[in-house]
Amino acid sequence: MLASDLDNPEAVLGIPLFKAENAMQGFWAAPPIPVSWRPGMNLDLVGPLGHGFDLPREVRRLGLVALGETVSRLMPLVRQTAQSQVGMTMFTDLPLPAAPASLEAYPLASLVEALDWPDYLVFDLPLEHLPELRSVLGLPVGTGLTCPAQVLLTTSMPCAGLAHCGACAVPTRRGWKLACEDGPVFDLNQLKW
Ligand code: FES
Repeated sequence: MLASDLDNPEAVLGIPLFKAENAMQGFWAAPPIPVSWRPGMNLDLVGPLGHGFDLPREVRRLGLVALGETVSRLMPLVRQTAQSQVGMTMFTDLPLPAAPASLEAYPLASLVEALDWPDYLVFDLPLEHLPELRSVLGLPVGTGLTCPAQVLLTTSMPCAGLAHCGACAVPTRRGWKLACEDGPVFDLNQLKW
């Protein structure tokens, strides 16, 4: 979802918003949001843009890794998965919001030792940190994960795909893709990392 501040004509760039939780007549957005935003202000919302996580039915042990500034963008997937028999473990150094009892949490440093536990991994990762992912996982160049993974790449999306500005370009094995159209969730195998 891209939000534009209708009360501020100088705010020409839209802000990507991600759902953290459903609400009665809308949704709670994951932080951060601009500090200038105030209750009651008018926003123009465009979207939803692109596509989100789509886990195979066979997943039984889901690892979640939050490498951005919040775990909130992963919480809708956590709440949805909590309805099933899937075991879930979050790896992060960030504070956790109220979470289902079925979610275990460990510090990020535990991930390297626990990589043989999940049969599926999901990441929340700012695009600019994609080159560091290999060292976070402790994987030497030329090696990969033993399980499939999807990555929510966060980046600015100033035109929401309307002008093909390219600001949200993501390096993939098949050239550049747009986070606003082709993502923001990508199969990790698709990406150059
Ligand atoms: S935000 Fe402009 S192409 Fe994606």
